[in-house]
Amino acid sequence: MRKTRVLLLEAIHPGAKEMLEREGLMVELHPHSPSGAELDELLSKANIVGIRSKTQLTASVLEKHRHLEMIGCFCIGTDQVDTKKANSIGIPVFNAPHSNTRSVAELVIAEIVALSRQLGDRNSNAHKGVWMKSADGAREVRGKTLGLIGYGHIGSQVSVLAEAFGMRVIFSDIIKKLPLGNSQRADSLDELLKVSDFVSLHVPDTAQTRGLISKREIKIMKRGASLINASRGSVVDIEALAEAIKVGDLAGAAIDVFPEEPASNKQKFESPLQGLPNVILTPHIGGSTIEAQEAIGLEVAQSFLSFLARGTTSGAVNFPQIDLALLQTEETRRAERRRVMNVHRNVPGVLGEINSIVSDLGANIQAQGLATDSTIGYLVMDVESVDGVELCKRIQALSTSLRTQLLV
Ligand code: NAI
Repeated sequence: MRKTRVLLLEAIHPGAKEMLEREGLMVELHPHSPSGAELDELLSKANIVGIRSKTQLTASVLEKHRHLEMIGCFCIGTDQVDTKKANSIGIPVFNAPHSNTRSVAELVIAEIVALSRQLGDRNSNAHKGVWMKSADGAREVRGKTLGLIGYGHIGSQVSVLAEAFGMRVIFSDIIKKLPLGNSQRADSLDELLKVSDFVSLHVPDTAQTRGLISKREIKIMKRGASLINASRGSVVDIEALAEAIKVGDLAGAAIDVFPEEPASNKQKFESPLQGLPNVILTPHIGGSTIEAQEAIGLEVAQSFLSFLARGTTSGAVNFPQIDLALLQTEETRRAERRRVMNVHRNVPGVLGEINSIVSDLGANIQAQGLATDSTIGYLVMDVESVDGVELCKRIQALSTSLRTQLLV
């Protein structure tokens, strides 16, 4: 692999640096989030940049640094990058949406037990010197019904862990999902709400999920049930939830995400749920664990390596997706098989022009993958018996080409 320079900002987990260095890349790690002239200076020396949520890669920053080959957001969100601009100049942006799945699932399981035993209140009372030894309202979770709304990565993990505790699991999802273990799809959302002792939300923030659990849905819930939300703050009507706790319709709630969250640890947090009995409030920490940070580092670093080695864009948030298997045998080595990637403006006829160049060079295409979106086309191809450098030069000279690179 050629010497590629990677700039990692915002104290990305050192595991990413180690992984990239093992593959021969040159990695510079910085703890802070530079901006202005400092960011320009650092980016001008890098081929790849990795950031977390603070560094702003705006359209004008990207325009100045069109040489960048890849951007990694070592987090879930990608709002801090102008992903559209990156797409239009041929830079894929990767993130790590599922590295903290297990961390969220474990928190939810802990909360189910904590709510069942009123751990939050008993703990804070004991700290205040109040001895509250009583079995009133304290229950085992074994045999209780857990209703999961959203059975994706996190919901299905919670399902497996909850069954290990002896819970009965039902779920509701807008798409057909394979039930894991003994879990079962509920007939309807209302049916799930009606029979569940615990309802836990694991849906994304969409027009359909905003206010999904409001006054009507809370009214349908079983009396004495508990609600858990570690998905997105927009999904639950917090005022309606607070009211249901106050009048005793619900026995408790564990909420990790809020309609309005402080932008930093220095800002004050306020919620109508504060001070209510058996309500656990956490500051959006569902996915915040050391293990998740490390997994995020490795997930994005792996995306960098797969793109450099094979041109794989699977998982990129702003790019046509290609993952073309790379066959490397004695035979392909003898035939000097080369892999070339090309990003071009998506206009008719580009593939024909590129294939003509290959044919003019007397070479043979062994494999080819093309994917497009409304702006760009992304081509990965394996070609035999060709001068790879010359081939790339000719393809890049096409007026439609944004970037062309010899990968192998
Ligand atoms: P996912 O995309 O794997 O699963 C979401 C599931 O919800 C999908 O199966 C989808 O079909 C389903 N769904 C969408 N709309 C629905 C609806 N109206 N009714 C029922 N099901 C619906 O997502 P993943 O990774 O499981 O994440 C779930 C949520 O957890 C997301 O909102 C994510 O932002 C949040 N999250 C929260 C974290 C925290 O720190 N608290 C950390 C990581 C994720």
